[in-house]
Formats: sequence, C-alpha cells, structure tokens
Amino acid sequence: MRHAGKLITFEGPDGAGKTTQIQLTAQVLEESGYSVVRTREPGGTRLSEAIRQLLLDPCYKEMSGVTEALLYAGARAQLVSEVLLPALAAGNVVLCDRFVDSSLAYQGYGRGLDLEMLRVINTFALHKLGTFCTVLLDLPPEEGLGRSAGVAERDRLEQENLSFHRRVRDGYLILARDYPGRIKVVNASADPRLVQEQIQEYVMAYLTGRDQGGAFE
Ligand SMILES: Nc1ncnc2c1ncn2[C@@H]1O[C@H](COP(=O)(O)OP(=O)(O)OP(=O)(O)O)[C@@H](O)[C@H]1O
Ligand SMILES: [Mg+2]
Repeated sequence: MRHAGKLITFEGPDGAGKTTQIQLTAQVLEESGYSVVRTREPGGTRLSEAIRQLLLDPCYKEMSGVTEALLYAGARAQLVSEVLLPALAAGNVVLCDRFVDSSLAYQGYGRGLDLEMLRVINTFALHKLGTFCTVLLDLPPEEGLGRSAGVAERDRLEQENLSFHRRVRDGYLILARDYPGRIKVVNASADPRLVQEQIQEYVMAYLTGRDQGGAFE
C-alpha cells in the first residue's frame, strides 16, 4: 500500500503517555500496511541528540530562557531537514514525540517568553515543512508527574515547580483552541486503550484525507 507522507506529532505534559501511545499507534498503522517512521524531540538526529543532552541536564541551572528556546529550535531545524522532510518525501507516516507546540507551551506559556518571537524562530526552523496533525494528550500535571515519579531522576524541565507545569498545560489547551484544525485534544487520564481508540479516530481521519490538518503558524 502506498500513501503520501504525513506527519503526526504527539504533545502533552510530562508523563501524559506520549511514548506509550506512539508505540501503540505505530503498531496499528504498521499492521494496516503503513510504513511508519518514529522519532522524538529534542533529538532524532546525532546533532539534535547532542543538543538534547544540553537541554535536559539538570546541571545547567544558568541556562537562560532565550538560550533554551534557540537550542530547541536548532535541534528541531536539524530534525526537519535530516529526518522529517526525507521521510515524508519517501511516503512514510512519521510519528514525532513532541514537536513545535512544546516550544510554545514550555518556553512561551511556561517561561513567559514572547510568543511571536517563538513563532518566528520556529517558522525558520520548520522551513518547507507544510501541514501536519497534532495529538494533544491532556491531563492535569500532578497526574503526569505522579506517573513518572521514582522512575528516573527528573530532567531540567521536569524539575520546574507545579505552577510552571500548570501554565504549560493551560498553554497547550490555548493552542488547541486557536488551531482546532491541526491540534486534536485527547483525554489522557483515561485507560491507555481508550486513549488509543480516540487517537486512532483522529489519526485515521487525517491519513484518509477526511481531516486536513494544518500548517504551523
Ligand atoms: N493512560 C494511562 N493511564 C495510566 N498510566 C499510564 C497511561 N499511559 C501511560 N501510562 C504510564 O505513565 C508513565 C508515563 O508514560 P509515557 O512515558 O508514555 O509518557 P510520556 O508522555 O512519554 O512522558 P515523558 O514526557 O516523561 O516522556 C509510564 O509508566 C506509562 O506506563
Ligand atoms: Mg516520553
């Protein structure tokens, strides 16, 4: 079966179930004959993974918000040119664990950086990317952080206080309200199988062309 390449990004607070649901979605799509490429942010290329280390290491307490935003955009630009554009040109369905909405939610709504400036640097980073679809896994931050408690040391962003994570969650919901064509909200507090059912509906609507998705703007 041959399909045009399409990008689906998964967003949401820490512990929302992004990695879990990407795994399940990839399985279902592959069983239906789609060729699936999975990747993640920050990361997904050699250079972007090196930037990831800088971004998440709790030792860099001095990192300014602007530096953080530019490093994310840099890692993203490399992922777009080295992985996303070629994979889409080759007709794959690309599932990406976090993408540009994370920058607006965390650096914009979470840290309070200028949203217009974030849009400008990310438009530059996404050069030529076109339309995509975004699944937003929504849940209260306490719940997400609770799920991953004790599993591993919290990274630099996970260590932020609860009010930061509340602003991130609210920011994501504002983005979903502003871009309803591209961003689809799923209740991530539900049982993983129910979450996956809802995701399947959105993903299949997008892949079959019933839903158009949208460009980053
Ligand atoms: N719907 C769910 N209900 C309860 N627990 C869940 C659900 N989905 C995932 N989990 C569990 O919550 C934890 C976090 O899930 P997962 O790693 O998929 O989230 P994530 O969004 O990728 O997190 P991170 O932002 O930290 O990468 C895992 O232990 C996972 O098994
Ligand atoms: Mg994850």
